[in-house]
Amino acid sequence: MTDATAPAPKPGILDIAPYVGGKSRIEGVAEPMKLSSNENMLGAGQKAREAFEAAVRNIHIYPDGRATKLRGAVADHHGLEPERLIFGNGSDEVFALLNQTYLTPGDNIVTGQYGFLAYRISALANQASVKLAPEPQFKATPEALLAEVDERTRIVYVSSPSNPTGSYNTAEEIRRLHEGLRPDILLVIDEAYAEYVTEPDWETSFPLARDSENIVVTRTFSKIHGLGGLRIGFGYAPLKVAEAVDRIRLPFNVSVPGIEAAVAALGDEAHQQASRDLIQTWRPRMTQAIRGFGFEVLPSAGNFVLVRFSDAAQAQGANDYLNSKGVIVRPVGGYGLPDCLRITIGTEDQNRAVLDALSEFAAG
Ligand SMILES: Cc1ncc(COP(=O)(O)O)c(C=O)c1O
Repeated sequence: MTDATAPAPKPGILDIAPYVGGKSRIEGVAEPMKLSSNENMLGAGQKAREAFEAAVRNIHIYPDGRATKLRGAVADHHGLEPERLIFGNGSDEVFALLNQTYLTPGDNIVTGQYGFLAYRISALANQASVKLAPEPQFKATPEALLAEVDERTRIVYVSSPSNPTGSYNTAEEIRRLHEGLRPDILLVIDEAYAEYVTEPDWETSFPLARDSENIVVTRTFSKIHGLGGLRIGFGYAPLKVAEAVDRIRLPFNVSVPGIEAAVAALGDEAHQQASRDLIQTWRPRMTQAIRGFGFEVLPSAGNFVLVRFSDAAQAQGANDYLNSKGVIVRPVGGYGLPDCLRITIGTEDQNRAVLDALSEFAAG
């Protein structure tokens, strides 16, 4: 029953489960180790910090609505056409803008069973539905995604690497997926964790997107560049898509310090390399060590690992035990994985704290 005496949200809004971000506090622990949101545990690089601080003198001025300086820097860095870039308050906003631009009530988006939740929330807010392709092997395959596509599908989302599973799609799989889609369906390929991939059969989809009319590739400054708190992401889209999105994008959606810090971060190759090295050193070590404690660890191409326990109660027990040691990781029941915990790979000290706690937990 609607309450005619109070403003009612649009149909469907109150059915959306609010996004729950990674926890950042533990009662009684002054400085917990926060390994719950796949942030860069090295922090931002020195160059980005300096650029951020220098930008303070201009924060009374509205940002350049086209983010021209950042647009040019991203285009140069990745070899992309500047006019085809869409900047957002995080790549999350790029997904929301695409959903807002392309979905009408009754349409649907297709993504994997364990696909990133941000795609779904704004789809539902646009009164579209979400069709989930089964991921029995914790990976969204082209066949499973294509099987969900119907006449009302407007957007297919894949993340490669994917959060929270850590799986990825090969370049060949992405091509197969694209070839199987109608040309009026947008394929969004979320490459938030691209810089951490070492598998030789993964490729960025920028080249595939260049020659297509229906592919958007997204990237973020929140992971490798350590700028999650500044909220900057972008999409590389067909010109027509970029121009359509630009009509509804809020005029000043990327901030003055954000633009400056992101430009500096792109030029800080040493920080990017250190961030990659940290993950490439510790991802196999964490995987192996945790497996050694008797828990399943899914192979990960990102800056995190997904640990599978025997059941939800054991995952909850491990989570509580990690918390008692001042470590915050991410329960992923919201993704339908109540028996799993997602652990961001941190600095050496943080990783050792995780391993010590899990080894003690395993020993009972
Ligand atoms: C797969 C995936 N895509 C996108 C994002 C969001 O990135 P941003 O901070 O740019 O909104 C995340 C963040 O965790 C993610 O895991």
